[in-house]
Amino acid sequence: MKLSKLAALVGVIAVALFIMLPNLSWAEDGGALYKAKCAMCHGATGEGKPAAKIPSLVSEKTQGMSDAELTDFIANGGPSKKATHAFEKKGVTPEQVKALVAHIRGMGKK
Ligand code: HEC
Repeated sequence: MKLSKLAALVGVIAVALFIMLPNLSWAEDGGALYKAKCAMCHGATGEGKPAAKIPSLVSEKTQGMSDAELTDFIANGGPSKKATHAFEKKGVTPEQVKALVAHIRGMGKK
């Protein structure tokens, strides 16, 4: 590839990133999404509600799940396809699910 072509490509990518960035940061606000869609059940800090059989998200068990398993659980309801989760059917985008997984990881580190 000629150098000028490479420079043009880099330029195009830079412009694309610049356009996408504001949308990305909006879409990936995992904390706000968690507060809006999950906190009423799993608690503000992910502690869960043992009395209502809602699991903690900061437990070793949940934190021990892989990102792929967490993603599947949130997007599709996990192996047993629980309808309470399956958030992708309720309009949560894959980027938002990713942000939620990151937020759950973040809560686990505190
Ligand atoms: C209506 C209450 C409710 C809401 C809202 C809710 N959950 Fe849950 N969640 C549960 C219950 C109950 C379980 C355990 C039972 C099951 O398997 O469905 C669970 C299980 C989970 C698990 C698996 C935990 C484990 O160790 O097996 C994850 C991960 C999870 N929820 C994430 C989320 C996220 C992220 C959101 C928001 C997008 C959310 N949940 C919203 C009630 C809820």
